[in-house]
Amino acid sequence: MGTDSITIPRWFDRHLHLRDGDMLRTVLPHTLASQATAAVIMGNLPPPNEISTIVKAIAYRDRIISMLPPGSDFTPIMTCYLTDETAPEDVVSGYKEGVWRAVKLYLARKDGSGGTSHSSRAVKDIRGRYPVFAAMEKEGIPLLGHFESVDPEIDEFDREMICLYLNVIPLHEAFPGLKIVFEHITDNRSAEFVVSAGDNVFATVTAHHLMINRNAMFDGGMNPFKYCKPVPKRDDHRRKVRAIVTAGHPRFGAGTDSAPWDEAAKARGFGCSAGIFTAPAAPELYATVFDEDGALDKLGAFMSVNLAEIYGLEPSKETMTLVRGSFTIPERVGTVRVFKGGEILPWKLVGR
Ligand code: NCD
Ligand code: ZN
Ligand code: ZN
Repeated sequence: MGTDSITIPRWFDRHLHLRDGDMLRTVLPHTLASQATAAVIMGNLPPPNEISTIVKAIAYRDRIISMLPPGSDFTPIMTCYLTDETAPEDVVSGYKEGVWRAVKLYLARKDGSGGTSHSSRAVKDIRGRYPVFAAMEKEGIPLLGHFESVDPEIDEFDREMICLYLNVIPLHEAFPGLKIVFEHITDNRSAEFVVSAGDNVFATVTAHHLMINRNAMFDGGMNPFKYCKPVPKRDDHRRKVRAIVTAGHPRFGAGTDSAPWDEAAKARGFGCSAGIFTAPAAPELYATVFDEDGALDKLGAFMSVNLAEIYGLEPSKETMTLVRGSFTIPERVGTVRVFKGGEILPWKLVGR
């Protein structure tokens, strides 16, 4: 009963890279076509354009809004890209003025390298940011973290786990009232931490991390289109994270981390950019995962309800419907290759 069609509140994406300029124009329609009401927009534009000030966030929001078709009800939820220079007062005024609804934490090495895409001007001294976190805790401003160690000595596959123990747990202990979102979670230990940490700790989970393990990066030869940060982990991590998600844990929510890169930046022989582009198939990918786990009844909460409150959203009163059928994922959008492009998924969003 009911397994050939599922209707849920319209969803929102808790972690999205829209980029800027021509790329923004190319990828934004795919998030709109996925019937999202809103998305949390990451501000890691290439230096010096990181969205680290109120003025930049307003201008970027306006550029996004200017590309929406007339009548669109899509809300870009802006975030503040935290740097070592960001003042607590500015974080609070941007929040109170309604410019941004959260702060994004990337970590960087002292020499500015490492971390993830466009994080060179991010936080090098997390302890030095404690006054900002204190202000955020007081005001209820969520901290969204790309939590991976940037120490080059640490094994790539252990970077999330090391960051958990060295940074995230101490942060949570120092600011137990601070709302923390563990972005694009991949490691079973961080997922278990989120479960045990209590009401103020949340996680977003990408569709690709629910589907692939680290083998995907090497299958058929090094595959840059399966490379993202955090790198996919061993399959036992994937399975355990996925079990928590599809069991319906209320502090885990859909965040695609859809991260478009020009094919040339992905396919170059050395220095491939990290990021996987899922926006053109996100609801179908998530529905496929929940269906495989016999958990379609939990899809609506994961995609459309969980974490809404911390971003100041109400779950949508409108609905979206997915039906069993066949949906061929487009190979490319412009010059960007889509995750699993060309493959057929057993769920299709009605209205595509
Ligand atoms: C993201 C990007 O390309 O902006 N890349 C990625 O591999 N996830 C950055 C990020 O979310 O860490
Ligand atoms: Zn990230
Ligand atoms: Zn991201």
